[in-house]
Amino acid sequence: MSSMNRRSFVKVAGAAGAAALLAGCSGNGTQEPADDTQSDDATGEADYTLVKEGVLTNVAELGFSPFEYIDDEGNTVGFDVDLSNALAEKMGLTCEWLPNQAFDTLVPTIKQGGKADISIAGVTITDERLEDVDFTDPYLNSNQALIVAASSGYATDDLDAADVQIACQTGTTGDAWIQENLPNATRVPLADVTAGMMGVSTGSYQAMVIDLPVAQNMLAQSFSDLTILEEIPTGEQYGIAVSYDNPGLKDALNEALAAVEADGTMDELKQKWFGTTDI
Ligand code: ARG
Repeated sequence: MSSMNRRSFVKVAGAAGAAALLAGCSGNGTQEPADDTQSDDATGEADYTLVKEGVLTNVAELGFSPFEYIDDEGNTVGFDVDLSNALAEKMGLTCEWLPNQAFDTLVPTIKQGGKADISIAGVTITDERLEDVDFTDPYLNSNQALIVAASSGYATDDLDAADVQIACQTGTTGDAWIQENLPNATRVPLADVTAGMMGVSTGSYQAMVIDLPVAQNMLAQSFSDLTILEEIPTGEQYGIAVSYDNPGLKDALNEALAAVEADGTMDELKQKWFGTTDI
C-alpha cells in the first residue's frame, strides 16, 4: 500500500479548468462556477473538480453485498458505502451515491465524466480498465469463487462443457475468468448477482463465478443450498475508479485512504463487514 505524506486535507472548490471540463456535460445543474482558485493557497495542495460542489458523487452497481447493497429499509449500505463516507469526511466533503447502474457501465460513466466523480464498487484494478480510467491505491484484496449447488456433486473439470451453464455478472473479472478457464462452458452474463445465484439454486444454471467475499456473504445470508466448489486465487485488488482528467482527486483520495488506514477506520470497517481485519 503506497503512502502519501501530504500535510492536510482541504476542501477545494472547482477551478476554471473544472468548469471547462464539465461544460457540455448534461446533468443536474451542478456545474461549478468559473473560479480562478487553483489550489489551497497556504498548502499548495493539488486541487480537483467535483460534479457537485462539496460532494463526492459515487456511481455503483448496488447488488454486491456486503460491499454495496440496498437494505430492507431501502438504504444503500455496505463496506464501500462506509468507506466512501469515511474518505469524504477526511476530504471535508459529504458522499452521495447515484441510483443503481449496471456494473459494465461504471467505467464508461467515469471515463465520460460529468455524472459521478468516482466509482467505488468492488472494482478490480485491471490493465484493460486502466486504459479508460485511473485508479487509486488498492483498498482491498479479493479472489474469485466458483459456486455450485451443494447437492450437485460437481468437480471443477466437469464444468468445462457446452451443456453446462455458468452465470456471472456481465463485464466482471469473474466473467473474464470463465471465458479464459472454462472456454467450452456456456457462459450466462447477467446484470444481477442475486439472479445468478437464484438460477444456480433452482437448477437453471450449473455454476456461478463471482468475487469470493461476495460469495461467502451471500451464501451465508441467503443461499445455504449453494457451496463454494473452488476458491480461485486471482489475486485481485479493488481500487476506486477516477477520471484521468481529475488527477488531483486521485491524489486526495489516496491521502484519505492512507489516513483511514492509519487511524484504524479501515480495520474497524473490515471487522464490521467481514468479521475480521484479515482480508
Ligand atoms: N471485482 C469484480 C470486478 O471488478 C466484480 C465487481 C462487481 N461490483 C459490483 N458492485 N457489482 O470485475
